[in-house]
Amino acid sequence: MEFKCDVFKVGNCDGQKIVDGETIPLVLNPPEPEFTDIESLLSTLKKNKGWFEDMLIKNSAILLRGFGVKNAEEFNEIVDAFGWGDIRYVGPAPRTHVHKRIWTANEGPLSEFIYYHHEMVLIKEYPTKVILFCEVPPPEGGHTPFVPSFRVTERMIEEFPSAVEELEQKGLRYTFTALSKDDTSSMRGRGWQDAFGTSDKDEAERRAKALGMDMEWLPNGGVKTILGARYLTKVFDGRRGRKMWFNTVVGMHGKEYSSATMADGTEIPENVVQRCEEIIEEESIQFNWEKGDVLFLDNLALLHGRRPSLPPRRVLVATCN
Ligand SMILES: [Fe+2]
Repeated sequence: MEFKCDVFKVGNCDGQKIVDGETIPLVLNPPEPEFTDIESLLSTLKKNKGWFEDMLIKNSAILLRGFGVKNAEEFNEIVDAFGWGDIRYVGPAPRTHVHKRIWTANEGPLSEFIYYHHEMVLIKEYPTKVILFCEVPPPEGGHTPFVPSFRVTERMIEEFPSAVEELEQKGLRYTFTALSKDDTSSMRGRGWQDAFGTSDKDEAERRAKALGMDMEWLPNGGVKTILGARYLTKVFDGRRGRKMWFNTVVGMHGKEYSSATMADGTEIPENVVQRCEEIIEEESIQFNWEKGDVLFLDNLALLHGRRPSLPPRRVLVATCN
């Protein structure tokens, strides 16, 4: 290890990778193996806030493991210890409020793969950090894989320099169709009333506008949400000038309820999207969740998703800036 740290022991986990010289995730274990004292963890985090934030940006992900974190209340205290601002979730995922800043992670069916994304990538106010807590580890599957976003950009430029350039120049346009809550023809996700937190169409339009989206009402009572132009990549302060693959092309392209094209309507070539999906999977990192794990992700640097899981699985989340 290239640094010394006397308040944590630097550990390992399965699936760890070294990317561009950095270990991802950085695993921090208690200094003593028998650790049951949440108070001393909290005071250690408070005292070392600056160091921890630097490490999170340097390594993109930090896994706190072995601290015996028990429940949403203790998880909330850990999140609170840093004093970061709270970002309320806006988006299609069904989530339930648990305690103070803590929500369930996506409650979509465990059998589904929730595709890789930067959290709230299409909205102006996205969180810089996504923090996850494993209360009940899944018996099988249910990983939260994550991907160093700059690696996707690098490899896409290597393989498709002109397509990437065109996408960068034109920008992207996404559509997303939400059914009405009253529409029982599909079991999929939430209706637009839940997504926008209102059943008033005018109010829903105002809220969509505020998030930088346009809406088209459909004859079946649903709504098509249009987002554009959005960028393909983005460079963030403090992250070594890396170009992050800050888009959701693979997740939304050519799906039943969503689409991704260039902002002028030009189709994105199928082979480019397909290859991108393979690259994302090849660059993916994942470990087996253990009870009490707390995982910090730099949302500006990593895409994350959720693998299909056998029940039970309970992972809670907080999003911060
Ligand atoms: Fe997410």
